[in-house]
Amino acid sequence: MNQIFNRKNMKIIFNHIDDGIQIVNTKGELVFCNRKSAIIDDINIPDSLGKHITNIYPNLTKKNSTLLKVLEKGVPITDNEQNYLTYKGKKICTINSTFPIMDNDYLIGAVEISKNITDVKALSNKVVDLQSIVQGKKDVKNEKMKLFDFDDIISNDEEVIRAKDLAKRVANVDINVLVYGNTGTGKELLVQSMHLRSKRSNNAFIAQNCAALPANLLEGILFGTTKGSFTGAIDRPGLFELADKGTLFLDEVNSMSFELQAKLLRVLQNGYIRRIGGTDVRKVDVRVIAAMNKEPMEEVKNNHLRVDLYYRLNTISIKMTDLKDRKGDVELLTKTFIKKFNDKFYRNINGITENALEILNDYCWPGNVRELENIIEGIISITDNDKITANDLPKSLLNKVQERTKIEKIDGGIDLKNAINKFEKEYILNALEETQWNITKASKLLSIPRQTLQYKLKKYKI
Ligand SMILES: Nc1ncnc2c1ncn2[C@@H]1O[C@H](COP(=O)(O)OP(=O)(O)OP(=O)(O)O)[C@@H](O)[C@H]1O
Ligand SMILES: [Mg+2]
Repeated sequence: MNQIFNRKNMKIIFNHIDDGIQIVNTKGELVFCNRKSAIIDDINIPDSLGKHITNIYPNLTKKNSTLLKVLEKGVPITDNEQNYLTYKGKKICTINSTFPIMDNDYLIGAVEISKNITDVKALSNKVVDLQSIVQGKKDVKNEKMKLFDFDDIISNDEEVIRAKDLAKRVANVDINVLVYGNTGTGKELLVQSMHLRSKRSNNAFIAQNCAALPANLLEGILFGTTKGSFTGAIDRPGLFELADKGTLFLDEVNSMSFELQAKLLRVLQNGYIRRIGGTDVRKVDVRVIAAMNKEPMEEVKNNHLRVDLYYRLNTISIKMTDLKDRKGDVELLTKTFIKKFNDKFYRNINGITENALEILNDYCWPGNVRELENIIEGIISITDNDKITANDLPKSLLNKVQERTKIEKIDGGIDLKNAINKFEKEYILNALEETQWNITKASKLLSIPRQTLQYKLKKYKI
């Protein structure tokens, strides 16, 4: 029995579970985190182990962390909904149960089991929305949600200005557009602005994230279903019909199955859809704008995007630049967001200190503008200072900047070998994160043999 439940096997079992599992010791330091938890929370396991839990999540404090509460009180907290930010600034919603871990009446740690319900929540909101549209309670034309406009896209960066100009020029031309760039760079902002400045602006704007749904559900949502086409199916229009005369924004289109991509291509080419299980074809007049957070040509090479669909969508492609590559934008956006959240929270924060701004400028911004906006929102809502200072910044951000500065100092000539090793380790960790810790895929991504990668994992104790 003990052989089965040894440490190594338990780790394997935990890594196959589809819920996030995190374990902390009595000091609140992370001692175990399974693969699912790392994926949900965008965390890098080797980097996070040993760190205090509040140093891993930007908006976690002693007061709101369930793990720390369980450590303090020694009693479980079950089915607790938590909304928080990952270090990339992504908003996550989970249902957590947290339990104390006891050893002969002594508290030795706490474990938290989390179900990620972010997509399910978004989906249920969408279903409610669609139902009300279908039942005529909500008139898509009259009760329009407020869309972003080009003026909301704040930037002094040449590339972003060029992207905005191109988007403005094609906004009113009925062609497909492909927008790509990393998470939080403003792709949806740009797409909504294009719809608003087009002749379709009085009709529906519908956005669908194609990665949020399994293929068979997505097909029904896009093209509609007919009664009896599968168990429980009802006669229901899909998003193409609901977006008639308007714009359909297909986000993360590269995550669709190839089969569905082929169906999408057919609709784009001939303008007709057929509901699942139906025989009638219906003409739809929809402008499709697609987005993805990877380089489109790379996605074709990686077999994630059909080449024929790529050519169809790529008539005009617009790239959104990472925040770290936009000189001056961190300052401009920080000031804009301070104003925005001063108004929202009735605060009067008078700017940011030079030191704090320098730290923000040194940070790598994996979650781009969304991350910056969420961080400023968090600070303005709680700070007691009249200016944002370095002390207000999330610990996880300060740690990242510090680590980077250390590497830069070493790069300056103090110890080149050490610097190269650090860089190599960081690079390997990124590849592992990217491939969800699949060694074979990571070695392909790094273009090195699997054995070499394994040797390096041992060398760097990853
Ligand atoms: N240039 C900008 N000016 C002002 N706000 C911005 C800008 N870019 C992004 N934002 C803010 O960041 C948020 C995220 O932007 P958006 O939803 O467009 O990102 P995205 O590129 O679609 O990301 P994802 O790939 O994660 O969907 C927006 O809701 C907006 O509040
Ligand atoms: Mg988006």
